Amino acid sequence: MAEDLTILTSTDKAEQYQSLIPQIEGLLYGETDLVANMANVCAALKEQFKWFWVGFYLVKNGELVLGPFQGPVACTRIAKGKGVCGTAWEQAQTLVVPDVDAFPGHIACSSLSKSEIVLPLFNNNEVVGVLDVDASEIDQFDEIDAKFLEKIVKLINFA
Ligand code: SME
Repeated sequence: MAEDLTILTSTDKAEQYQSLIPQIEGLLYGETDLVANMANVCAALKEQFKWFWVGFYLVKNGELVLGPFQGPVACTRIAKGKGVCGTAWEQAQTLVVPDVDAFPGHIACSSLSKSEIVLPLFNNNEVVGVLDVDASEIDQFDEIDAKFLEKIVKLINFA
């Protein structure tokens, strides 16, 4: 297993993802523990992109419950349909929010979070959680992030 991440100091986001993805594959290789894998994916994303907050929520007893993350302490439980996370779960689709203050019902775990992307996580076509990424500046996420983050979460087995 790789012990150090090589951080690409490119300003090209796609290049940064392309450098990171094989390293994430290395981190996950041969490891079946879900918490360990989610934890390392958060750490790798945070190290490369320096985002404000990166973390997983998993569906447990009908609500999203905070899982491994990197960043400041966060809300522990989110109901289906609530906030960006609960909406991405309900709609089973990736949500890019350029300005969280303009998203009705956004849950402000921190007032420092300004833009956000949330991806649903699937097991057998069922949403079993979300990956939530927050930035401290507006308009930090787009379809490039959606495309590469979707590739990254598919590397994790959520069964
Ligand atoms: N802002 C999210 C809540 C989670 S925190 O940002 C970590 C939301 O509206 O669902």
